[in-house]
Amino acid sequence: MSNIIEINNISKCYKRDKKTIYALQEVSIEIAKGDVFGIIGLSGAGKSTLIRTLSTLVTPSSGKILFSGKDIAHMDKRELLAFRKTIGMIFQHFNLLSSRTVRGNIAYPLEIAGVSKEEMEKRVDELLSLVNLKEKKDAYPEELSGGEKQRVGIARALANEPHVLLCDEATSALDPKTTQEILRLLKGINKNLGVTIVLITHEMEVIKQICNKVAVIEGGRIVEEGLVADIFADPKHPTTKHFLQNASHDIPLEFFKEPSSNRKLLRLNFKGKAANEPIISEIIRKFNVDANILLGWIDHLQTLTVGTLIIELTGSSEGIESSLNYLREKTVHYEVIENEHS
Ligand SMILES: Nc1ncnc2c1ncn2[C@@H]1O[C@H](COP(=O)(O)OP(=O)(O)OP(=O)(O)O)[C@@H](O)[C@H]1O
Ligand SMILES: [Mg+2]
Repeated sequence: MSNIIEINNISKCYKRDKKTIYALQEVSIEIAKGDVFGIIGLSGAGKSTLIRTLSTLVTPSSGKILFSGKDIAHMDKRELLAFRKTIGMIFQHFNLLSSRTVRGNIAYPLEIAGVSKEEMEKRVDELLSLVNLKEKKDAYPEELSGGEKQRVGIARALANEPHVLLCDEATSALDPKTTQEILRLLKGINKNLGVTIVLITHEMEVIKQICNKVAVIEGGRIVEEGLVADIFADPKHPTTKHFLQNASHDIPLEFFKEPSSNRKLLRLNFKGKAANEPIISEIIRKFNVDANILLGWIDHLQTLTVGTLIIELTGSSEGIESSLNYLREKTVHYEVIENEHS
């Protein structure tokens, strides 16, 4: 697959009261055509700045951004206008025009593009059915629920048939059920219309549900990046682990006792072949340890299912050491967990 977007070593700094704030530092990302690429980070990490560099609202201080191999900094006015039409954008707070109906909001970008009245009517009807809002076409934004508003936002963003849809916290203002609905709609748009999606979020749940790739951003830097399935099965950076922990299940406090060499709390991740082997019973037999299963869950990702088990391993310190070696040999990813709540 060819890259539709290449972010090449960009930095963005702001100067304020003689101080320099680095919103982005040496960020490089490649996004392939058809990706649903998620960027996750805490507040202030640089997510919005990054996505705004893609919509040309923010110009990087250094580095370059290529769309379909073309450097956007070198585009002339006409090229830039044409380029902007290939990018759709949706926002956390929807940004609808309150004086226009649903229809009027969706028609707006078509009016600007100078589309004929006839064609516009036709296109708006298509978009209304795509986002399932036909019945609300004459309603004003104030008469709509959050989910309905976002569906208008999505229809408007798709009006000019963009190749890329940029989503800045598109579901953060919505309840979990409505979030699901919107994510399903976005996934369908990606699959059926072939639109590449870049979305930013602070929730791993969102990444899990629709993204195939993810980058974790912190302090303006990408600290971890890869296929969602790989990151879920084997997270490396503490920030990624933190996000994953929030996405999965809280481990009850009573599971945490004083750490000792005869007792370890482990988080095991099984994917692919390892999921079909009786690894736990093997280590109990081979190394004379006890394994008490405390929690287990399964994450269904886009392309892979990852199983997680939290187990308490007790036995001699050699037995535990050998068990850990054995897990490594069997390529089961594991992590010794300590009290993450303290
Ligand atoms: N126009 C600006 N002038 C000065 N500093 C800015 C500007 N825009 C962003 N910053 C700073 O850059 C950093 C990254 O901001 P950004 O808005 O990209 O974060 P974010 O990850 O989107 O956060 P949030 O989740 O809260 O939306 C912050 O420290 C912010 O204060
Ligand atoms: Mg932001």
